[in-house]
Amino acid sequence: KSYSIALIPGDGIGRDVTAAAWSVLETAAKHAGFALTATEFPWSCKFYKETGRMMPEDGIETLRGFDAILFGAVGWPAEVPDSVSLHGLLLPIRKAFVQYANIRPHRLLPGVTGPLRAESFDILCIRENTEGEYSGAGGRVHQDTLDEVAVETSIFTRAGVERILRFGFEQARARRGKLASVTKSNAQKYSMVFWDEITRELAAEYPDVTVTSYHVDALAARMIMAPDSLDVVVASNLFGDILTDIGAAIQGGLGYAASANINPGRSAPSMFEPVHGSAPDIAHLGIANPIATIWSGAMMLDHLGETAAAGRVMKALEATTARGIGTGPGKDRTDAITAAVVAALS
Ligand code: NAI
Ligand code: MG
Repeated sequence: KSYSIALIPGDGIGRDVTAAAWSVLETAAKHAGFALTATEFPWSCKFYKETGRMMPEDGIETLRGFDAILFGAVGWPAEVPDSVSLHGLLLPIRKAFVQYANIRPHRLLPGVTGPLRAESFDILCIRENTEGEYSGAGGRVHQDTLDEVAVETSIFTRAGVERILRFGFEQARARRGKLASVTKSNAQKYSMVFWDEITRELAAEYPDVTVTSYHVDALAARMIMAPDSLDVVVASNLFGDILTDIGAAIQGGLGYAASANINPGRSAPSMFEPVHGSAPDIAHLGIANPIATIWSGAMMLDHLGETAAAGRVMKALEATTARGIGTGPGKDRTDAITAAVVAALS
């Protein structure tokens, strides 16, 4: 069996961490008796400076035939605005391939210490990935006058809200049976009340799942004060974006935060990437932590149906951090951490 993977390293440390993850994934595949082939694409801010685009015009069509996409990070050099790199590459891929569920697991790997006293949390954040506050609908009028107005409209569709909540219920059912649905329905009286209503409608179909609706501010506090009270958290695009940075912080930092952009219907490839960016401050120093990307790679294997190999990669990661390797920022070099994980696989 063989899987074709589109590899988009991007900029800065994106290059280091995807190379690291790839060597781990190749080793895992070899042990498990399947093949992974990589086709690398240079789409990045560097590519933008050369061509005026983050990816070629037919970029989406090029990616469509792959089994999955492994992505590093974009955003560097500084003269390419972050809104260009995001709207020119990542967001179009998520939208075009209907990767509506952005999954981010938050738990402490053995030996990694976070800022909290609680060590026994295991939260799966599910962020809506295609609409909501990041729909890009809006505009500005009376620019550069005292009457200037900027409008940015959130778009929530019944189909979009229902499918992400349903995905959340299914994940909760497969885990500890608890779902936290996140809104701000006291202040946002249309979209968030709508979200709460659909949550209640679906709850009737999942009597085995305990669902609780939280306001986003209260849930942000709960993630810090009582993270062990949470199982699956489902939130809109913006709220999920913010909450998962809290999740990354409590699991020890961005070096550990993995993510998957999933197309649950499998009509197009899903994309796997670390939560972090291109980290220009440490690019080329060889000290980027590859664990977030290796973990994302394990999620890719799982999505491809190679669950045993995915489990072995996670075990190897845990064995590595349990030995104190890769457990602090800049403590171990990228290649040393990678070599330890590869060795733990054998
Ligand atoms: P960042 O995630 O690149 O870095 C934030 C801080 O965390 C930095 O101090 C960095 O050194 C550290 N850090 C991040 N990943 C690390 C790792 N694997 N190991 C060790 N330390 C790590 O976020 P920042 O600085 O806000 O953005 C830098 C650039 O990345 C910007 O251009 C931004 O737009 C872009 N970006 C791209 C993303 C993507 O491609 N998905 C996501 C977030 C930011
Ligand atoms: Mg974010």
